[in-house]
Amino acid sequence: MAAEQERHNEAVGVLQTLDGRKASGFYWYLTVLACVGGFLFGYDTSVVGSVLNFIPYNLSDLATGYLVAGASLGAAAGAICAGPLTDRFGRKSLLIIDALIFAIGALLSAFTVNAAMLIISRTLVGLAVGADSAIATAYIAEFAPANKRGSLSIVQQWMITVGILVSYLIALLIFAVAPGAVRTADWRLVFGLGAVPAIIAMLLRARMPESPRWLLHRGRYAETRDAFGKLGIEVSEDEVRETADELERQAAEQQDKRRWTPGVIRAFVIVCVFFIFQQITGINVPFYYGPKLLAGLFQSGGAVDSAMSGLETAAILGAVNVIATFFAFKYIDRVGRRKLALGGFAGMVIFMVIAAGGVAFLSGGAKIVVVMVGFGLFIASFAIGVGGTGWLIQGEVFPTSVRGQAAAGAATVNWLSNFAIVVLFPTMNTAFGLSWVMLILAFLALLAVAFVARYLPETKNLSVEQVVSVFERQRA
Ligand code: BGC
Repeated sequence: MAAEQERHNEAVGVLQTLDGRKASGFYWYLTVLACVGGFLFGYDTSVVGSVLNFIPYNLSDLATGYLVAGASLGAAAGAICAGPLTDRFGRKSLLIIDALIFAIGALLSAFTVNAAMLIISRTLVGLAVGADSAIATAYIAEFAPANKRGSLSIVQQWMITVGILVSYLIALLIFAVAPGAVRTADWRLVFGLGAVPAIIAMLLRARMPESPRWLLHRGRYAETRDAFGKLGIEVSEDEVRETADELERQAAEQQDKRRWTPGVIRAFVIVCVFFIFQQITGINVPFYYGPKLLAGLFQSGGAVDSAMSGLETAAILGAVNVIATFFAFKYIDRVGRRKLALGGFAGMVIFMVIAAGGVAFLSGGAKIVVVMVGFGLFIASFAIGVGGTGWLIQGEVFPTSVRGQAAAGAATVNWLSNFAIVVLFPTMNTAFGLSWVMLILAFLALLAVAFVARYLPETKNLSVEQVVSVFERQRA
């Protein structure tokens, strides 16, 4: 029965051709275009921390909290809206609209006249971050050759990490060039520069092909043929139609007529739990709070000086993140999702415990070194096995008929978990003390190891149609 199901879900006809293609330069170009939102995701979620102290409005605690964590809430809302919209209107249209919202949000933040306008503009940016994160890897999974889908999707994570790093570097550069303007022009420029990649992405995305799998699923055969043509694959409209008929025949043979079959629900739950662990194990603690936590250990002069040393620390961690993500890119299709995730979470346990030990038992220079090295390797473990793997499986494990909704639902869970940990961390820190909180995070990462070992199936090198059947089989 299981083998039969797998056979039923073989990629067929023109989709098989798509899966077996070599990834040309154009495929990488499209991937980067799809992932510009990832860059802005990284840039916009970390940029607030750099400029917050210099925004000259009288911000209440609530408004300040909203500016920092509210992006995650806005992103959750953006992700949930994107699901039904992208299944209805396509991946490309949504990606273009997202880029437009990014650009408007960044420009409004730069030219903002009061706190209310700033909050509205940052909410717009948050919505775009969430919507883009919901769709990017789904779009990639729908055209990527099966044996390169992992690497292509990891580009999303890479762009996120580059966005985070660039946000620190830009802030450092601007504060260094014009230290006298931190409260006037600098923070506006730091926000506004996000519009540049957004506008470029909007223009270039307008010329990208729509997802061939989505078009086929919607019965738009002539457009499917054209999308294939743009990807360098010549197929006739009849061949596209035959593939669609074959897919329909396979679907009819499977007794279960529901779109959300038990296997799809299982895949959804597994991706959501993976995302919850991706967030609650604390990756954003060193990113959002690390510079602040370590700031006490650096001698600092005025506000600009201490902001600069905080940013330098963040930039070091950000660079480690970018470099380590390269290994995810390199090994995700060779070693596979499961092994990388197991190793990633296991590394997070070990290095968080080491950093916690540094916080609890050391002082002075030794403390800085151990905590920075611990955090650095914790981030590297996340980057190699956990960050990109989460966004990859979010894009690849659902069937085309519900991919938009399911991927968006999972992205929403990611953003809500992100919000929860960012908001709860300060309270937990006060209640238990930093080293105990770090041990709790390490324990959660240990639970994640057990979860991955027990539930995450290997999906490397399979066609997206076959991936679905792996979950159906697990469920049976
Ligand atoms: C996570 C973000 C995190 C980033 C760090 C992403 O996969 O979703 O919350 O800030 O990785 O690189």
